[in-house]
Amino acid sequence: MKIVSAEFVKSAYSREHWVNDGRPEIAFLGRSNVGKSSLINSLLLRKGLARTSNTPGRTQSINYFLINESYYFVDLPGYGYARVSKSMRSDWGKMAEQYLSESGELRLCVQLVDARHAPTSLDKQLHEWLVFQDKPYIIAATKADKLSSNQLRKSLSQFDDELPGAKVIAYSSETGKGRDALWAEILGAVERKS
Ligand code: GTP
Ligand code: MG
Repeated sequence: MKIVSAEFVKSAYSREHWVNDGRPEIAFLGRSNVGKSSLINSLLLRKGLARTSNTPGRTQSINYFLINESYYFVDLPGYGYARVSKSMRSDWGKMAEQYLSESGELRLCVQLVDARHAPTSLDKQLHEWLVFQDKPYIIAATKADKLSSNQLRKSLSQFDDELPGAKVIAYSSETGKGRDALWAEILGAVERKS
């Protein structure tokens, strides 16, 4: 995949700031600290484009990146971070849910789960919601570099059981594992007419 250009476009805090120019959108979602921003940077081979941090809950807005001037990567706020107030938590949930249900050009949802752990109840809820809403989606199991190949195999089969029907790609932003496979899914989704 040749990335000619990848640029941060904007952070949107409410609906009127969403991009709305008809270009396809690929959304990245998952719990806080699962590695969404790192995965976006690794797909794009741009180290600091999406901001990463050790402080979970850092990405609080919907962040748009324009790729090759033809489609957007959308970094959604992470869910499930306990140390923010309840009202902030539900604001984030509402913002992400509104985006997922109403964004007209959403072509693929990439749901990130941590390869090292069983899916959390919020991971499962999101997965069920995507299935129920009939959204095109794929699961990326992140931080795969932290597991042995045996552990990874076990973990992937656990995802098959707990997130039924999902296609799961093991991913590492450190090593680039899974990068080609995920790009193939993304490009397929961008080219598919919705
Ligand atoms: P929020 O924006 O807070 O929701 O987090 P995020 O999902 O964007 O996570 P982020 O990319 O900021 O990564 C969180 C932490 O996990 C950082 O310390 C990353 O360096 C680390 N990390 C992310 N992906 C990987 C990976 O594939 N392998 C390893 N070893 N560490 C990773
Ligand atoms: Mg982030």
